[in-house]
Amino acid sequence: MTTIPTAPADLLADEAGYLEAVARARQAADAYYGSGESGMDDDTYDRLLRGITAFEVEHPDLVAADSPTREVAAGVTTGDVEHAVRMLSLGNVFSEEDLRDWAAGLERRLGGRAVAAWVVEPKLDGVALAARYQDGKLVQLVTRGDGSTGEDVSHVIGDLAGLPSELTEPVTVEVRGEVLMTEEQFAAANEARAAHGGAVFANRRNASSGSLRAKDRAYRVAQTFFAYDALTDPAHTSDPGLAELPHTELIARLGALGLGTTLGTPVGTHPCADLDAVLARIEAIGVQRPDLPYELDGAVIKADLPADRAEAGTGSRTPHWATAYKYPAAQKITTLLAVEWSVGRTGVIAPRAVLEPVEVGGTTITYATLHNPADIRRRDLMIGDQVTVYRAGEVIPRVEGAMTTLRTGAEQAIEFPEACPRCGAAIDRSQERWRCERGRDCGRVEAIRYAVARDCLDVDGLGEKIVVQLVERGMIEDFADLFPLTREQLLSLDRMGETSADNLLGAIAKAKGQPLNRVFCALGVLGTGRSMSLRIAGYFGSMDSIVAADAVALEKVDGIGGEKAPVIVAELAELAPVIAKLKAAGVNLDQPGWVPPPADDAEPEPDSGLPLQGMSVVVTGGMSGPLADYSRTQMNELVARAGGKATSSVSKKTGIVVAGEKAGSKLEKARELGIEVLTPEEFAERLAEFLTEEA
Ligand code: IVH
Repeated sequence: MTTIPTAPADLLADEAGYLEAVARARQAADAYYGSGESGMDDDTYDRLLRGITAFEVEHPDLVAADSPTREVAAGVTTGDVEHAVRMLSLGNVFSEEDLRDWAAGLERRLGGRAVAAWVVEPKLDGVALAARYQDGKLVQLVTRGDGSTGEDVSHVIGDLAGLPSELTEPVTVEVRGEVLMTEEQFAAANEARAAHGGAVFANRRNASSGSLRAKDRAYRVAQTFFAYDALTDPAHTSDPGLAELPHTELIARLGALGLGTTLGTPVGTHPCADLDAVLARIEAIGVQRPDLPYELDGAVIKADLPADRAEAGTGSRTPHWATAYKYPAAQKITTLLAVEWSVGRTGVIAPRAVLEPVEVGGTTITYATLHNPADIRRRDLMIGDQVTVYRAGEVIPRVEGAMTTLRTGAEQAIEFPEACPRCGAAIDRSQERWRCERGRDCGRVEAIRYAVARDCLDVDGLGEKIVVQLVERGMIEDFADLFPLTREQLLSLDRMGETSADNLLGAIAKAKGQPLNRVFCALGVLGTGRSMSLRIAGYFGSMDSIVAADAVALEKVDGIGGEKAPVIVAELAELAPVIAKLKAAGVNLDQPGWVPPPADDAEPEPDSGLPLQGMSVVVTGGMSGPLADYSRTQMNELVARAGGKATSSVSKKTGIVVAGEKAGSKLEKARELGIEVLTPEEFAERLAEFLTEEA
């Protein structure tokens, strides 16, 4: 288990420092629970709170009456609806060590015996909500408030997916869970708000809490509810059986009643026999986190059985039988310093945010994507704004939104380019994504460099200086023009000796024999990178079939949806002259060892006799032995040659995991799921006949 480092607490030197910290935390919490915007990100707030807690442990006599550690939700929001049972908060742990300490404490409370069964579920980053059902009908929604009383937000009944107005059975029960916005819902909420003259939200949780509490609005905002608890005491429900259920079964029962739960999602409520399994699960959820449509800020670890919970008991703010393992914050607030415009190899003009450097999830972020100009307008961003930056796992950091309420008046409008920033030509603004009117011609050098890179045609010795000369002297317009180049032409270039020219000619000639997936990849079709090119080539087998395919046929390829397919068709039409030149130059346009995909109605796949037929394979860690020099693309190609499909994440459907040196969470997940794990050497031995002479 790779332990996530514990973020240090803010150290508070003396009582004055402590009181100031209490005031800052209080102010941030007031703002957060008031306007939904605090100006302080979670991580900073957590650190501040831990510093306060550490000081209070040392100096119990100096604890301030208004310390935020005293009450649930920092005691700021009070509404007018009393909770039948207090809505509790959760304690936090930040490392494996913290978690083991916490679990040891819990087991001491159980008289020294182990917790009978654990359960791990995602800590959804939204707003806590209690939903009251009377005889199966949704009658009232109440926010957590200060834990004892909350605010009635029944006006949003009907807007929350996962909270049906009627259950599948006429049960009386209070369900508790989290309301949040998926990425799509967030975009829609911002659009609706902007259309009605409102300021866009800085981030999703602000948007959730703001939208829940806004009454008398002219438009509706859709959100999503996930249940993680219910009042199971027979005093509060018409279903006395609920109290007996382990948590895992309670969640399943809530799901059966028609409520939204995380069950059935890759991160859903999951039983774990012991702490090692709990830790593996926490890590597995952390791995999934960037791919989820909603945000998580941690994992929640709970004792599964009602008996353990009852024996462990509950403190004033938090239960003793559950805690939250916090992942490094995925969001931070920082200043938007500038917006830069760059032109990609296909002529797409993309804005990127330059940020005051900020650490998010263990990496210092200086740039973040802004997608396209429409996105900047939708988010109503200005230079100098305090913006929320999101980054989890390997995803490209992005700006979620601006804290518009914190504007000082010194912010400046973002300037949009009038002409292509690279070549000065006009801009095609017909799509959300702007493009230089010259398209690929604008990015010729970049496009050719991409085509000859190691993972595409792998032409050794063709550096940027040579490409620039070739383009500037009009010898080539695209990478297909490389193949007819003569020795004399190469020798006419600056600083090109005979040996280099011969080597380069040899490398270009060798590239003619590359498999179709690499040649296709070299075309630089929008929306198709290396692995998508491999899938397309593996599906169609030849360039002719790809070019002949319409959008419907393309959609049969894994990962191509209704949006991407027509773009590919249009791109290929535009690239027809390049493809014709490749053909004329004798470049290989077939996928070696291609086996036609099964027809739609043919159920069982024809037996190709290939060792990995129909199997999905995940490669992780560093390769060694005969595979030592294989790049990931080459590994994927090897898997495809042997009839398999290379995928990037481990799931129940994975057939083999090839785990090399320093394999991490994917290996752990494979072990957990009991999937066959091979070393690179074992894998090479199994596929010996498919290893090519040259990697
Ligand atoms: S259980 C008695 N489970 O985290 C225990 N809470 O910091 C009450 N949360 O107020 C909470 N996902 O809003 C629980 N799977 C989950 C959760 C979860 C998110 C939120 C909830 C709670 C806060 C505590």
